[in-house]
Amino acid sequence: MVCNAPPPFDSDAGARVTAMQRHDALPGARHPVAGGDAMFQLDNQLARDRYRRLSPGYDSATRRIEPVRRQAIDALCLEPGQRVLDVACGTGKSLAMLRNAVGADGAVVGVEQSSEMLRLARRRVADAGWDNVQLVESSVESAPLAGPFDAVLFVYTQDVLQSEAALARIFAAVRPGARVASTGLKLFPWYLGIANIWLLTVSYSYFTTFRGLRRPWLPLASYVELHGVRPTYFGSGYVVSGVRRRPAT
Ligand SMILES: C[S@@+](CC[C@H](N)C(=O)[O-])C[C@H]1O[C@@H](n2cnc3c(N)ncnc32)[C@H](O)[C@@H]1O
Repeated sequence: MVCNAPPPFDSDAGARVTAMQRHDALPGARHPVAGGDAMFQLDNQLARDRYRRLSPGYDSATRRIEPVRRQAIDALCLEPGQRVLDVACGTGKSLAMLRNAVGADGAVVGVEQSSEMLRLARRRVADAGWDNVQLVESSVESAPLAGPFDAVLFVYTQDVLQSEAALARIFAAVRPGARVASTGLKLFPWYLGIANIWLLTVSYSYFTTFRGLRRPWLPLASYVELHGVRPTYFGSGYVVSGVRRRPAT
């Protein structure tokens, strides 16, 4: 099988994780302004409240991300019979592609904390009649995740990527050597700074923390050997993939 992992763009993607994750956020992270700290706090309750309102229009509002969803799923190189985790699966827009790739003998598990988003995902599963797609309603941080998983997908999951507790929970259930792929929003390069004002204006309601938005994938590098990052949407998005490292003993 030919695996479409993204070619390296920033091949040093994982190496700088410690220093950059602490400092490479919006300028306000280093020079807090009044109320600025709140922009960097994760807030699961706020996220639930927002997605309650966003859920009815979510699929239509996000239809433009389908090409990068496809790229991220391709980078997982899924094979029939594998067990794949769809992190913060939302309305379940990735489920059909994942289910097609792992087949009837594999398994897809989606975890999602918004009841309203998950209700739409459940409808997809029921309509398709998949009996090997399991949906778990929970914040990732406390989700009962029945691993080991062979692959993990993160599609537009800024808040989860910036949550140490969520990543620890996920990767405790992922086998070494498993493929991991993520796609999402990132800030434009600094020389297009003005465009970031537009970007944040149209996207801020989809996440609660602005932490790490220059390189949102960096927290993954604690668990994943990253193979490279491909910029998308003129630098306002990314696709990254890699392989779950063997945990240190
Ligand atoms: C931008 S949507 C992406 C949904 C989906 N991955 C997709 O491909 O369309 C972000 C999702 O993350 C969920 N979410 C945010 N924080 C979460 C957490 N800590 N645990 C579980 N779900 C979370 C939200 O409820 C929302 O459904």
